Amino acid sequence: MRVTRRVVVGLPMAAAGLGMIGLSMIGLSLAGWNAAAQTAETIKIGIVVPMTGVQGAVGREISDAAKLYMAQHGDTVAGKKIELIIRDDGTIPDNAKRLAQELVVNDKVNFLGAGLTPSAMAMAPIATEAKVPTVVMVSGTSIVTERSPYYVRTSFTLGQQSGIIADWAIKNGSKKAVAVLSDWAPGAEAGKVFTDHFTKGGGEVLDTLKVPLANPDFSPFLQRARDLQPDTLFVFVPAGQAGTFARQFAERGLDKSGIKLIGPGDIVDDDDLPSTGDALIGVITAGIYSAAHPSQINKDYAAAYQKASGHRANFISVGGYDGMNLIYEALKKTNGNTDPDAVIGAMKGMTWESPRGTISIDPRTRDIIQNVYIRKIQKVDGQPWAIEFETFPAVKDPLKEAAN
Ligand code: PHB
Repeated sequence: MRVTRRVVVGLPMAAAGLGMIGLSMIGLSLAGWNAAAQTAETIKIGIVVPMTGVQGAVGREISDAAKLYMAQHGDTVAGKKIELIIRDDGTIPDNAKRLAQELVVNDKVNFLGAGLTPSAMAMAPIATEAKVPTVVMVSGTSIVTERSPYYVRTSFTLGQQSGIIADWAIKNGSKKAVAVLSDWAPGAEAGKVFTDHFTKGGGEVLDTLKVPLANPDFSPFLQRARDLQPDTLFVFVPAGQAGTFARQFAERGLDKSGIKLIGPGDIVDDDDLPSTGDALIGVITAGIYSAAHPSQINKDYAAAYQKASGHRANFISVGGYDGMNLIYEALKKTNGNTDPDAVIGAMKGMTWESPRGTISIDPRTRDIIQNVYIRKIQKVDGQPWAIEFETFPAVKDPLKEAAN
């Protein structure tokens, strides 16, 4: 092990080749590198997100938000300089794993930031073996935080939102639903929690239709859903697909069909809303963030984000912004000590005011506890916004609570 480490340190190019080597072969070496990183004067944060590929918008949003956080809060914490490194995994999990390895080995990062579920899953063994505190900034799948004791989430889970919207629909007269779900892990979780709650409330889920994740064509699924004559359509599409979905929904005339469209906040992504015209007006979702959230902190955040990025702040961006805050505040608590167990200890139980409302890190699960809001899409000053009208405070990930 020792020999391997020296050789690779002396030859940075060889480190890239580590992606080819089994993790068990380099496990000890990764731990050694991280020990060196802990004594450095500069604290490095390496975020691995898709900046290109089918879900490239997500990386842009995380990157813009993290940079905004640093522009507002400075690049020094507890006397140490903070350096942010963003790496593009191209929406490919194998790339995410290799990039995380390179960030640990070559850049000697003290923190990692993880993005989409498949990439976050692929990076987890690196975080565990190298003991690198990793903030999950995008993934919405329950199991991700269980993949490493060094994972802490600032994004959301689909379960948090999908159970609440199911209960709301039942309470408001829905009886027969069809679920249209993007066919990957977060979609499966959204569908499971929705169906559990909807059927427990006395409703019936007539069918669950799965739409391919890449280059989705929703039209045939929407047609099939309509043919089943439900009173309610529960839909999950991930960030970046709400615009396409809204267009096809309206093209099929579903916006005027009388079928209620509901879902988690993803289907009315603020990044896409300005270009959806009237297609989503009246749609009810349970979401964790709206750019229209009426707090002063959010008004300031949304204005600063819009100015810096040219886009409306969305639910993905707050995962990046709050992720940076979690790292900064943990470092303040440890006085700049980057010992991974000290850092994770500092993060557990932390509570703060986010642009989305009060949030905290569950000390038991390292998962986020946050408000879930019921919102209706309404036009304000000529543009559609998700206007909150009911709040469920301090919601935990229901799948973890059920398993407990
Ligand atoms: C995920 O990676 O789990 C994810 C990404 C985007 C979403 C929801 C979930 O909108």
